[in-house]
Amino acid sequence: MRFNDKVVMVTGAAAGIGRVTAEAFAREGATLAICDVNPDAGHSAAEALGPKAFFHAVDVSKEAAVAEWADEVAKRCGRIDVLVNNAGITRDALLMRMKESDWDLVMAINLKGAFLCTKAVVRHMAQQRAGRIVNVASVVGVVGNIGQANYVASKAGLIGLTKTVAREFAARGITANAVAPGFIETQMTAVLSDKIKQAFLNQIPLGRAGTPRDVADAILFLASDQAAYLTGQVLHVSGGMVM
Ligand code: NAI
Repeated sequence: MRFNDKVVMVTGAAAGIGRVTAEAFAREGATLAICDVNPDAGHSAAEALGPKAFFHAVDVSKEAAVAEWADEVAKRCGRIDVLVNNAGITRDALLMRMKESDWDLVMAINLKGAFLCTKAVVRHMAQQRAGRIVNVASVVGVVGNIGQANYVASKAGLIGLTKTVAREFAARGITANAVAPGFIETQMTAVLSDKIKQAFLNQIPLGRAGTPRDVADAILFLASDQAAYLTGQVLHVSGGMVM
């Protein structure tokens, strides 16, 4: 029970990696404050997590809603130990066909959302002189990917944000790290064609797609006491897809 009495916030926790990560924290004793833009799935996810979990309908790209969420969690729980910036979307197209609105939306949720949540939470962590921030980036943020200029830029930006938060808040006892998942089976990747899925699988030395649990295990490690001496790092969870 590594997270007994710890208060953990996870964004985009109604589905996929966020939901499985919240479940893994709950199994290890944490109190879960989860948010998502999808209220129905979010409420049922919180219910399934048990009595120590509660849900807020929050769009992470909206500053006022994010600030209100963080303040409510701090008021209700008395502290915030862990923030997992997981909420993310794709709007893929080749650069020449990519709409400005799709560039802006992906940046607003994937990158600005993490900035807003970090800003809202970090002052509570600074007062405690302890905290863990884990950002969910992507291997494509490191190596690039055709058809994902907006998404890749947002994830590369998130890695830069992680390293800057790590430097700015290290003296306050706060660490910031990122996981960079490879090809993980969730609703985000379910929509890809069989051809694209096979092309990803061909690049994975361990020979299989990742599961949300594979990513959750890495997130829990980075949020745990065992990772006390790690900050500003990017942990690839990709079956060796990127080395
Ligand atoms: P998913 O689509 O299964 O789940 C994403 C969740 O985020 C959904 O519940 C959605 O409602 C929520 N969300 C979307 N916009 C939001 C907003 N504005 N505010 C709050 N919540 C919002 O996606 P998945 O695969 O679980 O992805 C989670 C994270 O992992 C994302 O940041 C994604 O970029 C990243 N990732 C996923 C990979 C994969 O292969 N599935 C690979 C690398 C990174």
